[in-house]
Amino acid sequence: KRIIVLASGSGTNLQAIIDADQRNAFAGNVVGVISNVPTARCLTRAEEHGIKSVAIDHTQFGSREEFEAQLSEAVDAFAPDLIILAGFMRILTPVFVDKYLGKLINIHPSLLPKYPGLNTHQRAIDAGDEFAGATVHYVTAELDGGPPIIQGKTPIDPDMTAKSLAERILFDVEHHIFPVAVSWFCDNRLRYENGRALLDNKV
Ligand code: GRF
Repeated sequence: KRIIVLASGSGTNLQAIIDADQRNAFAGNVVGVISNVPTARCLTRAEEHGIKSVAIDHTQFGSREEFEAQLSEAVDAFAPDLIILAGFMRILTPVFVDKYLGKLINIHPSLLPKYPGLNTHQRAIDAGDEFAGATVHYVTAELDGGPPIIQGKTPIDPDMTAKSLAERILFDVEHHIFPVAVSWFCDNRLRYENGRALLDNKV
């Protein structure tokens, strides 16, 4: 399977997926990385691994639609089977989402449906939650509302700050559950059907 990753930041999730690819953890290859931030570290990570990288600076476009038209063209040039959002910080319009529905997945740093949107870890701490975590889900037109594929959680220790919790979740949860979701997709065990993520639990 051909996999591309869209990212806007440091790309530690991208790195986790590249590392999993290199140890053949899934039946696919990362063939491209696209970022809306030309200076983002995720692009450097791609280049370090000989993966074609494309920067499309969203600030250079007059509208969201124009940016997405260019983004869609770059996506299609890779002919991907799976499009991964890994810290991609642009909201995608329903036109883009519908075009790739079923092959577009995202990781969100909360135990959805709790805490869609931003500042998820602080909100979990403020709510006195026992656990926090992350969710890999299909992307639908509803922001962070798509059906969950896999979740991972970790206890919120009393002395934790949003920063320390975010770090623990990033490294101990996100980097582990994302490659699993990718491997399920590459093994054709995962499909999107009527708004739900169905996993074929064959042994
Ligand atoms: C992660 O916390 C992810 O949950 C959120 O953005 C962050 C991406 O981090 N969507 P990185 O760029 O993969 O290190």
